[in-house]
Amino acid sequence: MIGFHMLSGILILLITIVWSCNGENFPTSIKKCKNEDKKCIATTISDIIKRAATTGMPELGIKPINPYPLPKVNIERGQGAVILRIILKDASLIGIDCYVIDKINGFDRNPRDSVFELIGRCNSISIVGPYKMSGRFLLLPVAGEGMSTITFHKVNFTMNWQTDVETRDGKDYLKIKSVDYKSSIKRLHMNMENLFNNKALSDNMNTIFNENYQLIFNEIQEPVEKSFENILLDVIQPVFDKFPYNEMFAE
Ligand SMILES: *[C@@H]1O[C@H](CO)[C@@H](O)[C@H](O)[C@H]1NC(C)=O
Repeated sequence: MIGFHMLSGILILLITIVWSCNGENFPTSIKKCKNEDKKCIATTISDIIKRAATTGMPELGIKPINPYPLPKVNIERGQGAVILRIILKDASLIGIDCYVIDKINGFDRNPRDSVFELIGRCNSISIVGPYKMSGRFLLLPVAGEGMSTITFHKVNFTMNWQTDVETRDGKDYLKIKSVDYKSSIKRLHMNMENLFNNKALSDNMNTIFNENYQLIFNEIQEPVEKSFENILLDVIQPVFDKFPYNEMFAE
């Protein structure tokens, strides 16, 4: 025989389960902005990036972002005097929390008609990890394998999201179909250790790379930006999966 207390206990438990399945509340630790307040949105996103750096923000569905794994970057391009094949495997992106959002466009109340554009900068960010490289640079043959560091200094970027809206339990969630990330840099510095299995030759070659960093950037820009697009999608989409779009903004 089930007593009244037990019955009401089960009822409360059921209500609690149904309630908590009905989406999560947007954490109060994050400032909600009005859709029209573009400045507030840019500042809040910059703030989230800083706070998510080493510990992530589980309450938002963001895992730690610094360092961020880069399983594979495949650079295989070139013509004329620069033909490079570089493979980075199990590298890390270090310093993703350098990103500051200066300006946003869109993020409108109705996500169906809205653009999602973010414009900002990063002081410096690096890719660190094992590399394999072969090819020619300014007609000099290049070959090597070892540890590498590629640092991008003073990055400006523009990012656009192509989006869809998915309705779950009568609520609209933003689905980012793809991220388009374009960047310019002031300078690139790279150190590919152990080129030619020889420290002196390797140092010389790295000096030549760095004196001609723009030629290197031309080769690696597209594949690196592609990797960034995948990372950004991976970091951002879980946040929009977790909360209905309109609940992320103030009334
Ligand atoms: C980045 O943007 C700033 C401010 O608009 C500008 O002064 C600078 O030249 C830009 N740098 C690059 C590398 O595009």
